[in-house]
Amino acid sequence: MSSQEANIQHDAIYRTEQLCRNFQSGHETIQVLNGINLIVPRQSLTMLKGRSGSGKTTLINLLGALDHPTAGKIFFGEQEITRLSENKRDKLRRHSMGFVFQSVALITSMTAFENVEFGLRVAGIDAKGRRERAEEVLTLVGLDKRMKHRTQELSGGEQQRVAIARAIAHRPNVVFADEPTAELDTNMGLQVVSLFRSLVEREGLTVIMTTHDPNMIELADLVFSLDSGVMQA
Ligand SMILES: Nc1ncnc2c1ncn2[C@@H]1O[C@H](COP(=O)(O)OP(=O)(O)OP(=O)(O)O)[C@@H](O)[C@H]1O
Ligand SMILES: [Mg+2]
Repeated sequence: MSSQEANIQHDAIYRTEQLCRNFQSGHETIQVLNGINLIVPRQSLTMLKGRSGSGKTTLINLLGALDHPTAGKIFFGEQEITRLSENKRDKLRRHSMGFVFQSVALITSMTAFENVEFGLRVAGIDAKGRRERAEEVLTLVGLDKRMKHRTQELSGGEQQRVAIARAIAHRPNVVFADEPTAELDTNMGLQVVSLFRSLVEREGLTVIMTTHDPNMIELADLVFSLDSGVMQA
């Protein structure tokens, strides 16, 4: 290994080795991921692309410790997460990871502030800390004037920003976003990705997102392309 390669590995938030995931469908085995080796640098905006069914969500679920690989290893920093107990994986997810899904899973009867505050309550933060951090992250995503609005009164892009605020509020190291811009127009999509950009720079986050959209892909630090179960250069 060259010293440059060693440095890249050292700064990696994720590294996978020969990662495989098969699904069983009747008597048939579907090999969705077929030996994925990737390195995700810390504090990067990393995107996964690939046609529908290529395995992007499958890969995100593995990296996010929501699913188990059929074979291979996943290192989160120095830790090999495929070997951890469910309890430890659960802790890791709650403390170090944040998730933003395509169809925003907000509680629509609650305000933007309450949605974020509720997430922090689940993370075990005290009342004062929750209030301060909820205000801080909602300001960070540009919603300081909309905090007290119920989320059902917000636009799609604004709701997506509330979801992002909720995903980053507990100060995770990595945020996963599965097609976060799929239901937004290009302009709003670009706003959401620019927000990720600034969170990477200002909060030191790593963002791993999937997208089909070439407009978004232009803003990535790094792009992985999935095809036939492997990564294309
Ligand atoms: N739990 C499961 N059981 C069986 N097959 C599955 C399961 N989850 C995913 N698959 C199959 O794995 C393949 C990859 O699915 P995945 O959802 O990862 O694709 P994707 O790249 O995210 O696609 P899209 O862009 O449409 O979201 C698909 O063929 C899918 O049918
Ligand atoms: Mg998907």
